[in-house]
Amino acid sequence: MHTKITALSTYIPEKVLDNAYFEAIVDTSDEWITSRTGIHERRSIAPDETTTDLAVRAVENLTKESGAAIHDVDFIIVSTITQEQNMPSIASQVQNYFQIPATGAIDITAACAGFVYGISMAHSLVAAGTYKKVLVISAEALTKFTDYSDRTTCILFGDAAGAALIEHNETEGILKPISGTFGDGGKELYLSHIADTINGTSIEANNRIHQNGRAVYKWAVQLVPRQVKRLLDINHLTINEIDWFVPHSANLRMIEAICAEMNYSMDKVLESVTRYGNTSSSTIPLALHEGVKQGKLKQGDLLLLIGFGGGLTYSGVIIRW
Ligand code: COA
Repeated sequence: MHTKITALSTYIPEKVLDNAYFEAIVDTSDEWITSRTGIHERRSIAPDETTTDLAVRAVENLTKESGAAIHDVDFIIVSTITQEQNMPSIASQVQNYFQIPATGAIDITAACAGFVYGISMAHSLVAAGTYKKVLVISAEALTKFTDYSDRTTCILFGDAAGAALIEHNETEGILKPISGTFGDGGKELYLSHIADTINGTSIEANNRIHQNGRAVYKWAVQLVPRQVKRLLDINHLTINEIDWFVPHSANLRMIEAICAEMNYSMDKVLESVTRYGNTSSSTIPLALHEGVKQGKLKQGDLLLLIGFGGGLTYSGVIIRW
């Protein structure tokens, strides 16, 4: 059975954190931030807003914009690394808010790759005929877990949510996905909780995001072109057939390096990092939704999405829009 994304939306919090904000709180400059990352602004959740609120608002926007019904959703997948509590899941709270009568509900932890993992899993559930209408949500409130005394990480992150419906379709919309992981790199990018080691290596257990920026940068720039090739090969396509490349938007310079390696034009990239920073698994739905709003995405276009991040993990999928 074929599948398709039948509706897509986002929720972006109102509060803007521009580069001047960071010049005032840490030793940095607009010039350093823009030249190293391409980021101009990011958004921050309100003090009384929760990650669940972000998820709910993205789904409300999805129903408003597409007119899609959600009472008959039969599975909810929420990608997040910033739950306000580990239990109950955000997916269960979304079920409760919208009073969806009969649905499975789980949160998944695949960091910045989470939205693509969610789409891949939803595709498999619908293609197998197990479920009919899967709601995939990314909801990330990274600013609640950012160390604002660490200039190397605090300038990067922002908050946002995305939501998509995946359903059966007569023709092939979502093609065969790939995913993989490198667990030995876990210590290079983590959001600590109660343990003070990862794979035997000491880490800071302070409930904040930590990363070895250089190591993650190098890993991503080497990994993505190789995995894009693998994804294209299993779908019998070439990079020249891809109308829009939608990589995880962590750093514009990283995307430029990846495109240079693949000999792919930056003009055909959809990104969200310049205006919203790194919003973890929400960067890809943000970039897609902007592409729709700007009239860039046309029916029948081939899109290649690839998410990558903490794990270190990745997931890629090609979609015929
Ligand atoms: N402002 C000014 N200077 C800063 C700074 C900031 N915000 N952050 C770091 N620096 C300084 C460092 O202290 C260091 O100074 P030193 O040479 O005097 O020691 C210098 O800049 C270089 O630091 P480094 O960490 O090597 O910078 P970088 O060029 O690697 O850029 C990142 C840092 C975070 C922008 C970059 O590594 C990156 O984007 N990595 C990938 C991160 C990522 O995408 N993570 C998520 C993946 S899902």
